[in-house]
Amino acid sequence: MKKLIVGNWKMNLSIRQSLVLADRLEINIEKPTADIVVCPNFISLHAVSHELKESKIKVGAQNINNNDDGAFTGEISGPMLKGLAKYCIVGHSERRVNFGEDDEQISLKVSAAIRNGLTPVLCVGENLNQRHEGLAKRTVLDQLAEDLSELTIKEVSKVVIAYEPVWAIGTGESAEPYDVEQMINCIHKFLINKYQSEIARKIRILYGGSVNSDNALSYLNAEFCGGLLVGGASLNYRQFSKICQL
Ligand code: 13P
Repeated sequence: MKKLIVGNWKMNLSIRQSLVLADRLEINIEKPTADIVVCPNFISLHAVSHELKESKIKVGAQNINNNDDGAFTGEISGPMLKGLAKYCIVGHSERRVNFGEDDEQISLKVSAAIRNGLTPVLCVGENLNQRHEGLAKRTVLDQLAEDLSELTIKEVSKVVIAYEPVWAIGTGESAEPYDVEQMINCIHKFLINKYQSEIARKIRILYGGSVNSDNALSYLNAEFCGGLLVGGASLNYRQFSKICQL
């Protein structure tokens, strides 16, 4: 299966700046070696989606409400994203930590994404304390078990999983490729045991956390690594274009 490279632009860039970045990526990524997705902020989503309509670069949202409509001031629902996005990041650690999203809520969001025809990019990962206490694998597998609990086996095969150790996000302290490989293997085995190997084979498992154009290949070469979720470096068109053409 082709690798998947997702750029998470987070809460950065005006509409104008988002369009400039989208254009530069479109021009510079001539021979992508992977499927590519960029996730602009909600304000820029419509413009970027329109700009990349005919492009090899697909567009994703950074969040989704678990309800399809209703009195949820300030929120964005799945039906609103239809036609604008093909992917949706769900359960990013910045949402878990800063906005108190728990696994129960995240499981409903994953389900909302699937219900509305979006591919969820489900983020899981341990924090530094959990890693130091030897609880990294347990934490990630517990998150996965609950986050996927609302889905049928067939729906699970549509999910993309992103392993993002919290301590490696935005810190410049990327995880060791060996440790990433171990965790991805562990997630892959979990999927085989809980579902079937046929389903597990269809699920791409990405790594994210201080990925840049220099270290990207070391993760992409890890066994069962299905691609990358890139934050800071995805705002730099040279770096991101390079990562997409490794
Ligand atoms: P950085 O690449 O900036 O560490 O961010 C990773 C991330 O959170 C992507 O979702």
